[in-house]
Amino acid sequence: MDKTKIAVLVSGGGTNLQALIDAEKKGVLKSGKLTLVISNNAIAHALTRAKDAGIPALTITKKDCGSQEAFEDALMKALDENGIELIVLAGFMSILSARFTGHYENRIINVHPSLIPSFCGKGFYGLKVHEAALAYGVKVTGATVHYVNEIPDGGRIILQKAVPILPDDTPKSLQKRVMERAEWILLPEAAELVSAQVQKHKEYRQ
Ligand code: GAR
Repeated sequence: MDKTKIAVLVSGGGTNLQALIDAEKKGVLKSGKLTLVISNNAIAHALTRAKDAGIPALTITKKDCGSQEAFEDALMKALDENGIELIVLAGFMSILSARFTGHYENRIINVHPSLIPSFCGKGFYGLKVHEAALAYGVKVTGATVHYVNEIPDGGRIILQKAVPILPDDTPKSLQKRVMERAEWILLPEAAELVSAQVQKHKEYRQ
């Protein structure tokens, strides 16, 4: 059975993309194949990681496309041309419309650096999430991998892992712990789970 073709959408450093690349090498991600990386930022370090791993990568920006609709059309065209069956948002800092998420229902997953439903939704991304957790004073945070629907961070939860907050934490130290102990483990596991599901679905239809 053919592996599920995965596209990873990125915007920045790409440490979660790296975790997926490493997981594929180690065989943790075995039902899916990292097939394409798309960045909405031409200078994202994630693009270098994709290149080093030999994964085709391209940049598509909203600015170049002119509108959200044209941006999403360009994304869909690239995804369709590459036969993509599963989209992984790995630090992708752009909210996708209901038209886009509806087109790929149960085929888009995202990693978010908190225990949803805390510190999530519009405006909560990257370091801001950890700043908010520290400002609130919670003692436990974590990461969540979830399906993506029209509500930002509102889709069905797939995996979640808690991480403690320590008294001297800064947003950066907390971000690092959440990545190391939760995100980089959960995202490859979830990618494998959903890739296997997509494969099964294909088998039934044959
Ligand atoms: C990660 O912490 C990811 O969970 C977060 O941005 C960071 C990207 O890092 N994503 C969001 O906040 C999305 N709402 P990376 O580029 O090194 O993977």
